[in-house]
Amino acid sequence: MKRRVVLAYSGGLDTSVAVHWMGAELGLEVVAVAVDVGQGGDFEAIRSRAIAAGAVEAVVIDARDELAMDFVVPALAANALYEGRYPLVSALSRPVIVRHLVAEARKHGAGAVAHGCTGKGNDQVRFEVGTRALAPDLEIVAPVRVWGMTREETIGYAEKHELPITISRDRIYSIDENLWGRAIECGVLEDPWQAPPAEVFTLTRPRAADPFELAIGFEEGVPVSLDGEPLGLVDLIAAVGEAAGSVGFGRIDMVEGRRVGIKSREVYESPAALALIAAHSDLEGLTLERELMHEKIRLEHRFAELAYDGMWFSPLREALSSFMETTQRHVTGEVRLRLLPGGGLEVVGRRSPRPLYDYGLATYDSADSFRHADAEGFVRLFGLGVQTWAAKQGIGLVDDLAER
Ligand code: ARG
Repeated sequence: MKRRVVLAYSGGLDTSVAVHWMGAELGLEVVAVAVDVGQGGDFEAIRSRAIAAGAVEAVVIDARDELAMDFVVPALAANALYEGRYPLVSALSRPVIVRHLVAEARKHGAGAVAHGCTGKGNDQVRFEVGTRALAPDLEIVAPVRVWGMTREETIGYAEKHELPITISRDRIYSIDENLWGRAIECGVLEDPWQAPPAEVFTLTRPRAADPFELAIGFEEGVPVSLDGEPLGLVDLIAAVGEAAGSVGFGRIDMVEGRRVGIKSREVYESPAALALIAAHSDLEGLTLERELMHEKIRLEHRFAELAYDGMWFSPLREALSSFMETTQRHVTGEVRLRLLPGGGLEVVGRRSPRPLYDYGLATYDSADSFRHADAEGFVRLFGLGVQTWAAKQGIGLVDDLAER
């Protein structure tokens, strides 16, 4: 009996050639698994393409809800932005794909999992580390990393074996998309000094003429409504993305540090993710106790780094998620966003049934409930340490200033 491999199949050139190549060169039976993470496209066509390329089996899995509930929700709870800017679009979809690859490998009696990544990127790390975490016994096959064909040669391979792929020789960009956003690489973007041409953008192509508002409702950290209307998460993300993208909001242009040590110029459009993170973190300002919020902010960066690095299925990422989840118990309420043509987004209001904001404490009006007399002793003790230090040193800011 031939050995089987389960391939993460996109329907593109590389994975189509991979189906054929692994059969011809490695003598493997290929089960192609196409996972719908919200990238769009005709999955029936993708399925038949896999079969035509030589797959013994082709499976299509709709994982949009799973991506939203199991990966986007924890990422949003952590306001996860890698290097402070990138909402982990590709990094979140790989572990959900891995989960299905492993499940299909079990179902079809496969001893290995394959992907179509090159050796230069993060996605190979996410596929492989994720697979090893969920199924330490499975082997990994990375055909694109070993076959050593250029793009031209890969196209030549497809033509020679009559693989049914739509080849555009002048395809210039490498694009990865899911419901959390879109990543664009290659072509002119490889020069970090060149501004991204307008043609690379789809989600953030400006189409709204006037400013407008959105109200996003959260229940324990999870977005649940838009302008007061309850909405399922996948639909809500799509609606927020459509609205925020219509003013051109959600673009990111950065030079990013990949896990493999390469700095790369990345362009993203992620209107839904950036709008929801802006709203969510603002609501935390209203609902999280100060020390908890400050510690949470320190851990958010670590969370994003782990997710980016392919460490989703790791004890530290899981422990951090438990912490984040605990903090979300009080993150309930609504946030008002104002979208401005030209790509602007402002948080202009927030409310919660359990706010920590207390008007009676915060107001500068005379009719407040704050005990002013308490402040004097508190501030004196708070500053006692530095006061003592300054007195014993025999120096102070006053002397410093006087000398200048
Ligand atoms: N640099 C981003 C990341 O590592 C985007 C990767 C896009 N993936 C792709 N196969 N084009 O998450």
